[in-house]
Amino acid sequence: MGLGSAPSVIACIGREDDSLEERIGYFGEQVALLAQELGLNTCWAGTFNAKNVPAKIEDGERLVIVIAIGYGADQGRQHKSKKPENVVDSDGEKPDWFNFGVEMALLAPTALNQQKFEIALNEDGSVEFTDKGGMFSKVDLGIVKYHFEVGADYVRSQEGEQSCR
Ligand SMILES: Cc1cc2nc3c(=O)[nH]c(=O)nc-3n(C[C@H](O)[C@H](O)[C@H](O)COP(=O)(O)O)c2cc1C
Repeated sequence: MGLGSAPSVIACIGREDDSLEERIGYFGEQVALLAQELGLNTCWAGTFNAKNVPAKIEDGERLVIVIAIGYGADQGRQHKSKKPENVVDSDGEKPDWFNFGVEMALLAPTALNQQKFEIALNEDGSVEFTDKGGMFSKVDLGIVKYHFEVGADYVRSQEGEQSCR
């Protein structure tokens, strides 16, 4: 979806701290995916004119990015994507929930389609995301984390159902 004639934008504003951009990505993507489910189209836009966004910004808050929302001229297009082995920072066999999480993370939109992140599975089973820098890479990382969680939780819930049978 292009930005040209988007009738509305969602202004992503939050209290400034080190986690602001990542939080905006994580929660903003939930709003974007809900809008898509409802039949609308969305487009994250880091380049916008703040003067055209009449949102109220309190002291200590910052307008980080907007999400254009409306009925798109089309449904977007498939983008060239990295492969799991390009973003997974460890060798060896991985559980299905991790692999599917990575697959969903690779479907996440990133600014300039840069996909500058890495995902590692630690020995204790925790997952670590690394932001490799670049424009809006922290917002990207929040978006990517949410996509990963959707994928990983889906597989875990399926496995849970099977073990109940
Ligand atoms: C953090 C972030 C910032 C973005 N900023 C812009 C932007 O300023 N302008 C733009 O056209 N697309 C921007 N995008 C990309 C769009 O959201 C969208 O992914 C891209 O236009 C591809 O759309 P398509 O599926 O219609 O091809 C940004 C994406 C992310 C994740």
